[in-house]
Amino acid sequence: MDISKRASQISPFYVMELLEKARMMELQGHRVIHMEVGEPGFETPDSIKSAAAAALAEGKTFYTHSLGIPELRQAISDEYAASCGIYIPPDRIIITNGSSAAFVLIFATLLEPGRTLALSDPGYPCYKNIALLTDCTIKPIEVSPETNYEILPQYLDETPWPDLLVIANPSNPTGAVYRPETVIALHQRMSVAGGLLVVDEIYSGLTYDIDFSSSASISDDIVVVSGFSKAYAMTGWRLGWMIVPSDLVRPIQKLAQNLFIAPPSISQYAALNAFDEKEELAKMRALYKERRDFLIPRLNSLGFVISRIPDGAFYIYAGIEGFGMDSMTFVERALEEAGVAITPGYDFGAFGASSHVRFSYADRIENLKEGCQRLEVWLKGLT
Ligand SMILES: Cc1ncc(COP(=O)(O)O)c(C=O)c1O
Repeated sequence: MDISKRASQISPFYVMELLEKARMMELQGHRVIHMEVGEPGFETPDSIKSAAAAALAEGKTFYTHSLGIPELRQAISDEYAASCGIYIPPDRIIITNGSSAAFVLIFATLLEPGRTLALSDPGYPCYKNIALLTDCTIKPIEVSPETNYEILPQYLDETPWPDLLVIANPSNPTGAVYRPETVIALHQRMSVAGGLLVVDEIYSGLTYDIDFSSSASISDDIVVVSGFSKAYAMTGWRLGWMIVPSDLVRPIQKLAQNLFIAPPSISQYAALNAFDEKEELAKMRALYKERRDFLIPRLNSLGFVISRIPDGAFYIYAGIEGFGMDSMTFVERALEEAGVAITPGYDFGAFGASSHVRFSYADRIENLKEGCQRLEVWLKGLT
């Protein structure tokens, strides 16, 4: 049987394909430096692991409430109160199977043929690929370093006006952090036309030298998506959350019950300890910052162009115009000839895709140093 039209529209997630290729090379005995993966280079903090072991020992192995255990929804509400000074009622907080599932739920609830989702190009590719399953219209909006990679409100004026606008703050792949006034203006523009703003704050715990303010403080009618994967080093636990306007809770719950039944039980009990790990999180953040501060000048010295200093996440989006190679060729050759895995711009859209690559600095600094050294030797050999 032929695969559906919808499924055939989905592009591969090149970074995962590259990772698989890199793993194959490793199996064959090659050493590969990983500057492609969007995954913390740290294990989950110990107290979270211990809480998971305790939950297992206590037999908490059953389906939970479809919206998540009440204790965790309360803990997330308390965390917003403590860290941002805002009160989010726990009944507007929905626990999800990774933040990825939050996008499945919100898009499936609100998008359909004839409705439009706007997103930034370059941007996180899964938004588009998840939304395509709803047969909605996708409106990519080109963003550039001149505007700090922000979608500006006036960009929305072109038709079709979006029903939903999703932004990542901080962004993947650029690491850019939106100025609060831009988010406020985007929310106003969307609201005037009856649309909804969705802000992905999965990297909000990873910002450097700036104050980050959650969009949850702007208005109750912004959807905020976040999760434990990145700042809490919990990618494999598949746990995220979203804050939604009250009237969306029930429609989302009905979908969540059918699609996922419940978020993972052990992960939820483990995550109850996550917000007590402030010191551990601060240590990880300091190490990421050190890696970023090493990598930016080093990549510049190799000829990569970094137009904006990334303020968050663990990515550097770099121009490769000077090397005279398409980004796909560049990353394939860097992997095969230098043993360094990097992500091609094509993973993040079409705009500037051929002339950009994304470096991740989630790995240890020794490995990043070795990666740069290998790239240096390889690039010298090309001329
Ligand atoms: C911007 C962005 N949002 C969401 C996700 C998905 O994260 P999760 O592990 O919570 O599903 C990622 C993962 O890389 C991401 O980069």
